[in-house]
Amino acid sequence: GAPVEVDISKLEPGQLIRVEWRGKPVWVVSRTPKMLEQMKAHEDQLRDPASEEPQQPESAVNEYRSKRPEIFVAVGICTHLGCSPGFFEGNFSEKVEGTDDGFYCPCHGSKFDMAGRVFQAVPAPLNLEVPPYTFIDDTTILVG
Ligand code: FES
Repeated sequence: GAPVEVDISKLEPGQLIRVEWRGKPVWVVSRTPKMLEQMKAHEDQLRDPASEEPQQPESAVNEYRSKRPEIFVAVGICTHLGCSPGFFEGNFSEKVEGTDDGFYCPCHGSKFDMAGRVFQAVPAPLNLEVPPYTFIDDTTILVG
């Protein structure tokens, strides 16, 4: 499949946009400072907090699983059986106490944080996949 260009010039803080790459949904999320802050608070509840499993390109192996902290790119497919998790902005605490934002898979209840890191005690075995991507310029991402 061909790489896909994503224009993020209109992406607002806290917003998620979906594109398709190789037939898969890919999310691009603008994370707010609050979202980045929350991620540190629940590391002890995550299955693979440091993302040691190879679910991201080497350039995105860091605490935010991304090239820029505020921009998160992920394949929006649950690592359990392939459903697409929903984005809960501001109401994730119903799913994970003390965490306002994250992704929840309706099929069997897997929970992921704002870096796509899977919480413990859910069926999904791995963090969400981060696809290869590059910044062409400040407001354009090339996925693939
Ligand atoms: Fe997501 Fe099973 S497919 S929890």
